Amino acid sequence: MTEAYNPFSLAGKTVLVTGASSGIGRATAIECSRLGATVVATGRDEARLGETMAALTGKGHVSIQADLTKAEDVSRLVQEMPQIDGLVCNAGITRRRPISFVKEDELQEVFNTNTFACFTLTKAIMKARKMNRGGSMVFVSSMAARQVTPGNAMYAASKAAVESFARSCALEYAPMQIRSNAILPGMVETPMNNEGGLSAEAIERDKQNYLMKRYGKPEEIAWGIIYLLSDAGAWSSGTSMEITC
Ligand SMILES: NC(=O)c1ccc[n+]([C@@H]2O[C@H](COP(=O)([O-])OP(=O)(O)OC[C@H]3O[C@@H](n4cnc5c(N)ncnc54)[C@H](OP(=O)(O)O)[C@@H]3O)[C@@H](O)[C@H]2O)c1
Repeated sequence: MTEAYNPFSLAGKTVLVTGASSGIGRATAIECSRLGATVVATGRDEARLGETMAALTGKGHVSIQADLTKAEDVSRLVQEMPQIDGLVCNAGITRRRPISFVKEDELQEVFNTNTFACFTLTKAIMKARKMNRGGSMVFVSSMAARQVTPGNAMYAASKAAVESFARSCALEYAPMQIRSNAILPGMVETPMNNEGGLSAEAIERDKQNYLMKRYGKPEEIAWGIIYLLSDAGAWSSGTSMEITC
């Protein structure tokens, strides 16, 4: 029997997913494994990382616990991980506060996690030559980078930088046939929404702004990420994909 035709297959590819212990990262790890990838899952919380591992299809997956804001964790992660064909830079946090009330330590925390971790991890992977030729990087930015809302300046600015960084990676790593793209999700049903400081009523009102009158599901973002990781995305680099409605 011939194998089913599927240009979105990830068979034979190894994909590192950051923030794999929750939400979009967990869904991405699961969906990647269902499409044949070997997954390297990373996050801070070992128990939740374990839950992700238990949900993966197939064998050979690894999990490496790491806090991406710590330089020593980033170097250990890169040292321990196998060669990869895909990087999904997804770990992120949100903090809502009007600009005049922004606290310095929160600003640092948001940028360290959302923005600087993308820089340090990518740099470490590339210097260690852990990304194979023909590989693909996907950086999870946000629609919030473009559609600013009150109280969201820290997060929005940190995510706008991620979108820009994805384009710089596309330019600098194209000679190695490595692609890089950003994904910009609208609001997605994940634990992050509970940390955003919005009331249940405000969330319900916000959903009405969407054409489908609902927020996205984590796997609906994962499928866009998979397009960019797979050979179906072979002619996409330096782009930003909005996933929203
Ligand atoms: N949900 C949305 O509406 C939405 C919309 C647009 C974009 N996004 C973006 O999508 C990405 C995933 O968000 P989500 O909604 O899935 O959030 P989530 O459920 O809260 O998951 C966030 C993930 O990031 C990891 N993480 C946070 N800080 C970390 C650190 N210092 N080191 C390593 N890992 C860290 C967490 O790991 P632990 O739990 O193990 O600490 C967790 O796995 C984020 O970048 C977010 O900004 C989300």
